[in-house]
Amino acid sequence: MRHLLSVSDLDAATATSLLDTADRLKQALLGREVHKLPTLRGRTVITLFYEDSTRTRVSFEIAGKWMSADTINVSAKGSSVSKGESLKDTAATLAAAGADCVIIRHPASGAAHRLAAWLGREGGSGGSGPAVVNAGDGTHEHPTQALLDAATLRDRLGSVAGRRIGIVGDITHSRVARSNVMLLATLGAEVRLVAPPTLLPVGVGDWPCRVSHDLDAELPGLDAVMMLRVQAERMRGGFFPSAREYAIGYGLNERRLAMLPEHAVVLHPGPMVRGMEIAPAVADSPRAAVLEQVRNGVHLRMAVLYHLLAGAPEVR
Ligand code: NCD
Repeated sequence: MRHLLSVSDLDAATATSLLDTADRLKQALLGREVHKLPTLRGRTVITLFYEDSTRTRVSFEIAGKWMSADTINVSAKGSSVSKGESLKDTAATLAAAGADCVIIRHPASGAAHRLAAWLGREGGSGGSGPAVVNAGDGTHEHPTQALLDAATLRDRLGSVAGRRIGIVGDITHSRVARSNVMLLATLGAEVRLVAPPTLLPVGVGDWPCRVSHDLDAELPGLDAVMMLRVQAERMRGGFFPSAREYAIGYGLNERRLAMLPEHAVVLHPGPMVRGMEIAPAVADSPRAAVLEQVRNGVHLRMAVLYHLLAGAPEVR
């Protein structure tokens, strides 16, 4: 694996091998007082974030640190980006400064691919350049989120294959939904998207999933439900009448939680807007795996860095 830009780069064997590596790293750290493995000593990992983030950036940074890499955070605010420097020049600067891996989040769909193309041509020694990880590009993809969600589903349900997973809410603007639909299908799950017609993207009919507008009808048949935040920052204009009406139609409240099968698990990538897509009592219930997702995110991102930087055998 040279970069991780899209879940479409992953076949089932590669994705499963990343999940297995994450599991092994989790076991290796379990019960240790000091969370430190020497694996990436001497490697430099840079997070380059042009959008706000709590979970993703922190977990990549912790993942790097727990593997003894030197991790450096660069954000648009506080770097020369705010002086007008282009993404291309910023990327070349980071490569020249010695980055082995650049983890990028950017509001433009396709930014991670552009970065990988530029760095491949110009960066690093021998033209190989740093590895690039897509940590969310516009409304396009968020591969490590989909992988950590799959890890959490495996933990809670024992397997992903053959399970029916509902993804509910603002599908149009969600890179989490896009990456999850593809990865879950690759891993053999059956995906149901549940959303009002206004929050379903053009072309969704070609995705490997089925679509419904009726959350109550879908809940009893699901093994897991993934609730999405309404991405107000990516919306121009009204996509639904009011927050209250959205919550009535598509919010996961206690009444709806009771409609899920006993074993079903509730996921949310965060940040949650409590009272909108998820009621506080649901977010805090033992059925919800929100903080497990965050914990798994660290091990999964350790696995990604390991595969990219420590020369793990090529599976694909
Ligand atoms: C998501 C994102 O930024 O795409 N958050 C995350 O990475 N955990 C989803 C969101 O912002 O709603």
